[in-house]
Amino acid sequence: MKNFERHLYAPSILSADFSCIDKAIDRINASGADWIHLDVMDGRFVPNITFGPKLVKDIRPHTRLPLDVHLMIEQPESYIQDFAEAGADYLTFHIEATVHAHRVLESIRSAGVKPGISIVPSTPVSHIIEILPYVDLVLVMTVNPGFGGQKLIPNCLLKVTELQKEAELRDLSYIVAVDGGVNRETAKTVREAGTELLISGSAFFESGDPAEEVRFVRGDI
Ligand code: DX5
Ligand code: ZN
Repeated sequence: MKNFERHLYAPSILSADFSCIDKAIDRINASGADWIHLDVMDGRFVPNITFGPKLVKDIRPHTRLPLDVHLMIEQPESYIQDFAEAGADYLTFHIEATVHAHRVLESIRSAGVKPGISIVPSTPVSHIIEILPYVDLVLVMTVNPGFGGQKLIPNCLLKVTELQKEAELRDLSYIVAVDGGVNRETAKTVREAGTELLISGSAFFESGDPAEEVRFVRGDI
């Protein structure tokens, strides 16, 4: 296992009220969260539509936190430049959405953004084994992507442990993230599987005390 100092927490704005996104960003800034997670959906790769680079660009000046953009879209290669210019720090796409993942990863890096790869619950780690040396982040989906508020599928966490073993064996330093169904009930199991970045949408925005929520899920308290 990699020896990381502490876990990271990224609220996903998917569960925010988009009519007052400034309030959502203020809530995140004040909570002590580490990153902001932005879910981009195209209504094709997933059965839901959210937003594009414009919102990322508008949010950028309102926070110092890294912007972690999760593309749940077909043809991710077509939008790299737009999200890079919008100010994304990490740009993650799905292995299921493209054949030429290596090329996409290299294009993201050339655009000055850290590349990430994601797998849905039905995709095994073996599908991304060849490209692990080229990624800065591996995002393990623990629900079927498309919607917030779903229940975490526990079996998916075995992939986190597998990815950490692989990192150790091959001396790779990607961050392993878990997305979907992360809350106070599941956080400990998620951390113990070897997750470094915990992404949480509905639980964060439903919490009466976001700062406490962050610390609890991160395992600080
Ligand atoms: C789901 C998104 C997630 C979502 C998680 O497709 O990728 O980032 O916001 O929401 P919760 O934490 O409610 O499961
Ligand atoms: Zn996400």
